Amino acid sequence: MKRIETFQEYQTVYAESINHPNQFWAEIANSFVWKKKWDTVLSGTFEDANSRWFDGAELNITENMLDRHLAENGDQIALLWEPNDPTVASKSFTYKALHEEVCIVAEMLRTLGVKKGDRICIYMSMVPELVLSVLACARIGAIHSVIFAGFSAKSIADRINDAEADFVITMDGGLRGNKTIPLKSVVDEALLHTRKIKKSLVFNYLHLPIDKNERDTDWNALKNEVVASNHYFKPGETILSEDALFILYTSGSTGKPKGVVHSTAGYMVWTAYTFLNVFQYKKGEIYFCTADCGWITGHSYLIYGPLLNGATTLMFEGIPTFPNAGRFWDIIDKHKVSIFYTAPTAIRSLMSAGDEWLAGKDLTSLRVLGSVGEPINEEAWNWYNEKIGKEKCPIVDTFWQTETGGIMISSLAGVTPSKPVYATLPLPGVLPVILDDKGNEITENDLTGNLCFKQPWPSMIRTTYADHERCILNYFSTYKNYYFTGDGAFRDENGLFRLTGRVDDVLNVSGHRIGTAEVENAINHTPGVIESAVVGYPHDIKGQGIYAFVICDPNHHLQDQEQLYAITKMVSQQIGAIAKPDKIILVNGLPKTRSGKIMRRILRKIAEGEFDAIGDTTTLLDPSVVQEIIAKAKK
Ligand code: PRX
Repeated sequence: MKRIETFQEYQTVYAESINHPNQFWAEIANSFVWKKKWDTVLSGTFEDANSRWFDGAELNITENMLDRHLAENGDQIALLWEPNDPTVASKSFTYKALHEEVCIVAEMLRTLGVKKGDRICIYMSMVPELVLSVLACARIGAIHSVIFAGFSAKSIADRINDAEADFVITMDGGLRGNKTIPLKSVVDEALLHTRKIKKSLVFNYLHLPIDKNERDTDWNALKNEVVASNHYFKPGETILSEDALFILYTSGSTGKPKGVVHSTAGYMVWTAYTFLNVFQYKKGEIYFCTADCGWITGHSYLIYGPLLNGATTLMFEGIPTFPNAGRFWDIIDKHKVSIFYTAPTAIRSLMSAGDEWLAGKDLTSLRVLGSVGEPINEEAWNWYNEKIGKEKCPIVDTFWQTETGGIMISSLAGVTPSKPVYATLPLPGVLPVILDDKGNEITENDLTGNLCFKQPWPSMIRTTYADHERCILNYFSTYKNYYFTGDGAFRDENGLFRLTGRVDDVLNVSGHRIGTAEVENAINHTPGVIESAVVGYPHDIKGQGIYAFVICDPNHHLQDQEQLYAITKMVSQQIGAIAKPDKIILVNGLPKTRSGKIMRRILRKIAEGEFDAIGDTTTLLDPSVVQEIIAKAKK
């Protein structure tokens, strides 16, 4: 695959990709290993979420990530693992070693009875065995559904049931800073509320005491058996290009997370192509993506994209502030990282920790910096540029979503123009448009509107698991013939895009997507709660914070503090700690229209502290509730 190296080349390639997509993508796809080539490059219909890429082709994505690199690159490090505790030695796997390990775990899964097309839920912390599990699934054609290790038992159960998963891979516990997270016991609790799981594979990492169930198989014992059999080097299963590679759950504006399904060939081509071009990866460089594999960034740009390019990908087990706020900089210094990809929340939190944590850290190996997951504010952008990049490293602000599979709008590091806080230009193959609320394309520059994509791209969402209608409704119905992102965007006079945040009821808290309806559902489970409304508000570190307005039953006699505690606990139990509200106020009423609709606009203004900008309240059923809420919010 050839890298785009100049702005002029980008312009030519971009025009080519839009005017002749079939020819364009066929040429790129030719650099991969196929068991059988495609009949058609792009087929199907965009508007009902039925686009098909490389139809008729057969492949195995792990052969493209591992086997393909063995001859020339076998001794190069593929996966570099930095542990939570800096005094523990890091681990590395060459391409040869990673290939062998993945073959072993794939054989372990076969031994357990896992077959092509089965859904496997993976609930693990950031250890190499998580990557091995993901790739082993892909090797045998099982569909992985990774669940972020911070989600609650209830969230796991919902995801297992929705995906109709038959297998689980987990571990006794994981490490995050100075905390030990008991993962196996959370899974055990989840499995009390799911369909019957056939087998659960348990990696004994920390030697914590665990309850052993009949369904459990010990990872190490099974591994020993497979290794002793000496019969595990097998080719990858033959997979059709449109077969599902994985499911990843993400929040939308309804209460129930959606199982976003990605296919195999299109996802492979897109993650590989965008990784190479956006980061301008050069052979031998160390690339460090700080995302957790429980999110899409971890899938596409910690695992798939880098390994498809024969890169060295660094995986970090811990958190940016353990043992202190200099940890990322220590890792960059220690491993001579060239490309560093993180989220604005992490940048803001490390910026606020103070520059003293940078003292004595050698960051000269850095060549490219990346940002992902949320809009980056100017102050954080400038700090990142000056203090981390020393004004020498291009910053790529990469806009994309779980549903897009890979980066859609971003500069190509050092190649295309960059502008602070702008994602800038679309990747080849991406045709972004800005629509007004009536669905008309805004063609003039210097305006804000709703961001949509007008053409299919290889790694686009294929469906929401077991509910294709929902996929059409969520993404292809708001504006006919367009994919709607749910984001607002501004296009400047030069055609560069800046993302302005979600325009729907989805919050972005520390780069994590959380639906307001999901949090409301969770709050409403708390005994004594009658109704709630949740909105986002600007938060210095997290980007957005969660603000909940809750009506409680006056006959439910709990002290306010106890009620608040009960609500917070319920949200943690129902979703996970990431969705805990930052602020909760107990109110007697919510601002509703006469038809009973909550006027969130008013609540947002209150949450933002803009008490004088509430606007017209005369259409409310009871305008006096607004003053009561303001009085409580001011306390
Ligand atoms: O609102 C946008 C924001 O994150 C949302 C997607 O979240 P998720 O599916 O969890 O994927 C995050 C990692 C790709 C988008 O709808 N977002 C993502 N990247 C950016 C962004 N907002 C502004 N600038 C970005 N670079």
